[in-house]
Amino acid sequence: MGRLKQWEEEWLRPFLFYGNNWISLIGGAITTAAAFVLLGYWVVTLIGHGGSANPYTGIIFDFLLPALFVFGLVLIPIGMGWRRRSLYRAGQIPSVYPQVDFRDPKFRHAVDFVVVATFINFVIVGTASYRGVAYMDQASFCGTSCHVMQPEWVAYHHSQFHTNVACVECHVAPGIPGYIHAKTNGTKQLLMVLFHSYPRPIMADNKLPPPTVTCERCHSPTRYAGDQLVVKNTFGDDEKNTLTHTVLVMHVGGRNAAGVYSGIHGSHYKEKIEYIATDASDQTIPWVAVIHPDGTKTVYAVAGFHPAANQKPRVMGCIDCHNRAAHSFASPGDAMDRAMAGGALPASLPYLHKEGMALIQANYVSQGEAATKIPKALEAYYRTNYPAIWSGQSSEVKQAGQELVALYEQNVFPFMKVTWGTHPNNIGHMASPGCFRCHDGNHVTTGGTALTNDCTVCHNIVAMGDPNPKPLAELGMTQ
Ligand code: HEC
Ligand code: HEC
Ligand code: HEC
Ligand code: HEC
Ligand code: HEC
Repeated sequence: MGRLKQWEEEWLRPFLFYGNNWISLIGGAITTAAAFVLLGYWVVTLIGHGGSANPYTGIIFDFLLPALFVFGLVLIPIGMGWRRRSLYRAGQIPSVYPQVDFRDPKFRHAVDFVVVATFINFVIVGTASYRGVAYMDQASFCGTSCHVMQPEWVAYHHSQFHTNVACVECHVAPGIPGYIHAKTNGTKQLLMVLFHSYPRPIMADNKLPPPTVTCERCHSPTRYAGDQLVVKNTFGDDEKNTLTHTVLVMHVGGRNAAGVYSGIHGSHYKEKIEYIATDASDQTIPWVAVIHPDGTKTVYAVAGFHPAANQKPRVMGCIDCHNRAAHSFASPGDAMDRAMAGGALPASLPYLHKEGMALIQANYVSQGEAATKIPKALEAYYRTNYPAIWSGQSSEVKQAGQELVALYEQNVFPFMKVTWGTHPNNIGHMASPGCFRCHDGNHVTTGGTALTNDCTVCHNIVAMGDPNPKPLAELGMTQ
């Protein structure tokens, strides 16, 4: 007997004989359909067109579809075992298994069934996967399906810019390696959410792809932005909430038409800059170096710091300053000042700035608790201390209470342990070190030259805490 013949009699025939039952046939169809969808998806991704960059679609293609594939595969032997047992009980196990023959109507029916079922399964699984991907690609999926992203989701909607830029545009590098990296990360994160083992708060220690493949697809790093006027309105803690203004001329610079690099942007792009941070959110930077085109370096370091072997420098880029590009959280002072300047908090209420600051910074176990306690406390304050105001302006007091709740809910998320200052903004140096992580005057070369701390290289201060700055009046910018 030839090898082939022996194999057919001992393996193929019994396999097909026992396999001819509903459970095994459905299993076979599920497995084949899942395999087709997976294969199609891999081909599309490898070619690089139409494959979704969304990190969480990994849950479909690395998890659910392979699981479906295995499930179908497991059904086959289960069905076979079941058929074998029932035939055995009925004493119908044949001594010789029937031949594999296309003319046999029973065999032909089974084949027809598998082909049709595979096709139907393929359409169902394929459509479901495609719809899943389309759904996960929307910003709303990243922001809302997963409550752990709520702080960023809320901040994203309060940002003036980038509300039409999808999360994946900044968080996922284009191309296959970025894609695979994002997929494995995304699957890992979803599992962390399922098992409640995610960190709280979530910090940006899982570094973004380099700006060359994110920000710089839309922005030029050296576009000349010249000088820009920045006006800050600040309200006082006195009874009248006195308004003062600070006026700065920011030297943003860039590379001008003559190719000269200047100002804030130009100075960090003229040559490559590398730095070492010693904490996960990059707030402590003891070491920074300018890498000159000939390969030599100028190192500025704080006294006594020597990089350890595992402290690899990172290249400085947009997100080291613009770390809150799409989802910015405010400092309590900025949040209050903006709301008062915009009129959402009526500056006519005595001591509103002082009381509001205290109320939004108090401890609450949840946003819900803040939403009941803040308005009550504010009303109690005016009822007790300013009964005339409480009776005459009670609707303003109530409105102010609701606005304070809104400021709290845009910035503090107790369930994620996100509070004021958890995600500092690196542009500036008031609420957090920001530029002064390097420009504090303590970063020096071995020769003793300090990295500049001169106020005027970054901005000219035209007015500071001035209730009525003359330059603003001259520019016609009365506040
Ligand atoms: C314009 C680019 C951009 C967009 C769009 C964007 N992000 Fe970010 N994201 C950043 C930057 C920059 C960081 C900080 C990176 C760093 O500090 O190293 C960050 C950090 C984060 C972090 C870490 C925690 C934190 O707040 O620092 C989370 C979570 C996050 N983003 C979620 C989202 C979600 C969800 C969306 C969509 C709703 C989104 N991001 C859209 C640029 C972006
Ligand atoms: C998909 C395109 C896109 C990407 C990617 C993108 N941006 Fe933007 N960005 C925009 C648009 C559009 C605006 C709004 C410009 C306007 O309205 O003046 C903007 C505005 C800004 C502004 C504010 C401009 C101002 O006048 O104050 C900053 C800062 C900024 N982007 C930085 C970044 C950084 C940093 C990244 C990368 C983390 C990034 N952007 C990624 C498109 C993009
Ligand atoms: C050294 C810190 C730093 C780096 C690095 C940096 N920026 Fe800026 N950028 C600033 C500051 C400061 C301002 C002015 C902000 C203000 O006036 O409030 C600014 C302003 C801007 C603006 C608004 C002004 C304009 O051009 O119209 C955009 C857009 C911008 N940056 C994009 C980028 C992008 C994209 C990158 C990376 C290629 C980048 N920045 C790198 C600090 C930086
Ligand atoms: C390395 C650059 C740099 C240096 C040096 C620097 N600043 Fe600033 N400063 C900034 C940036 C960036 C901002 C933020 C502008 C914004 O918010 O749009 C800022 C903001 C400010 C503000 C407004 C803050 C607010 O929120 O009201 C004041 C006031 C100020 N700086 C004063 C100073 C003084 C005084 C010095 C010198 C001792 C100084 N700065 C040195 C970059 C710098
Ligand atoms: C990671 C460290 C680091 C941070 C953070 C940083 N810088 Fe710088 N900055 C440098 C280095 C290094 C140089 C010197 C570049 C050179 O010599 O080519 C420099 C140079 C400058 C210069 C030119 C100084 C001169 O003497 O002409 C300006 C202006 C400047 N930075 C502004 C800023 C502002 C504004 C911020 C915050 C938004 C900031 N820098 C944040 C490292 C940093």
